[in-house]
Amino acid sequence: MPEHDTIYILAIESSCDDTSAAVLMNDKVLSNVVATQAIHKEYGGVVPELASRAHQQNIVPVVHQAIAKANIDKKQLSAIAFTRGPGLMGSLLVGTSFAKSLSLGLQIPLIEVNHMKAHILAHFIDDETMQAPSFPFLALTISGGHTQIVQVNDFFDMKIIGQTLDDAVGEAFDKSAKILGLPYPGGPLIDKYAATGDSHKFEFTIPNVKDLDFSFSGLKTNILYFIQRKTKENPDFIKNNLEDICASIQYTIITILMKKLKKAVKQTGIKEIAIGGGVSANSGIRKVLTEAQTKYGWKTYIPKFEYCTDNAAMIGIVGYQKYKDEQFSQQDVTAKARYVIS
Ligand code: KG4
Ligand code: ZN
Repeated sequence: MPEHDTIYILAIESSCDDTSAAVLMNDKVLSNVVATQAIHKEYGGVVPELASRAHQQNIVPVVHQAIAKANIDKKQLSAIAFTRGPGLMGSLLVGTSFAKSLSLGLQIPLIEVNHMKAHILAHFIDDETMQAPSFPFLALTISGGHTQIVQVNDFFDMKIIGQTLDDAVGEAFDKSAKILGLPYPGGPLIDKYAATGDSHKFEFTIPNVKDLDFSFSGLKTNILYFIQRKTKENPDFIKNNLEDICASIQYTIITILMKKLKKAVKQTGIKEIAIGGGVSANSGIRKVLTEAQTKYGWKTYIPKFEYCTDNAAMIGIVGYQKYKDEQFSQQDVTAKARYVIS
């Protein structure tokens, strides 16, 4: 490991609509500041141009706040880790350019991080409420942009063994919510209403997709036609049945995810399962995975809430691992909107 024993990593995340900065001391999080961009609510989804402008406004105060909260001086920083991709190009460019300039200014190494890898390795943050999975494990990464099952053999040895062929699971939540007239992002609202609903009240189709892959676009159409038909019969249908509709949608999505996870366990023989990504904040998924420990003999790992949705602490933990392994980036590194895990 180069130079000092105590490593301070400043991490920056700007891949979508959250501007975040964190400071880690080795694998411990000293601060993790997230500025969520409220502007997108007005448009029912993330507007890329507005996202990059908001990142530009937020990045300096967010980084200042992360360093202040960590109670360190920026001269103590060992390296700067940043999200290189995948994500929205304009958003990624803000974090990438900022990280590159600060690394030049402070004369410290720069470390590029794959956002999806970070969702997986967030489990290795040293936190009393979390336990790290043992290698090899299966990671189910479920976010607004991705749905993947990844076989994780080591920190730097991962293989995607299943993924969505169309919409991501977060999109399935958000688009279903939009059909129900709920504001963006609707995933957390479906979760909230589902808590008091009957998950077997309405039935939606479970798609038949090959191997370990997923598909969610059919479900969205299924829900749309169902709602159109029902509201024609009764204009108050959504209002009168919101909890049951949400519970039934959530149940269907969880069933689709679990079907493939069970298949992946059977295929690989790996029973260590870790979830990651914004949708792993979903209480239904958390419950089903907790129950899977006794039901199927799996060992399941669910990250702390704040490390599920986009945050810089997860970028920092990958930064720390890469720092120890001396995997540094050069100043000519560029943002990468499509960036596949390997
Ligand atoms: O990982 P993330 O913060 O951003 C991306 O990289 O996409 O994931 C955001 C996604 C959104 O689709 C949001 O609706 C969903 O995660 N989400 C949830 C919940 N919390 C966030 N979906 C269902 N239930 C939740 N509690
Ligand atoms: Zn994410």
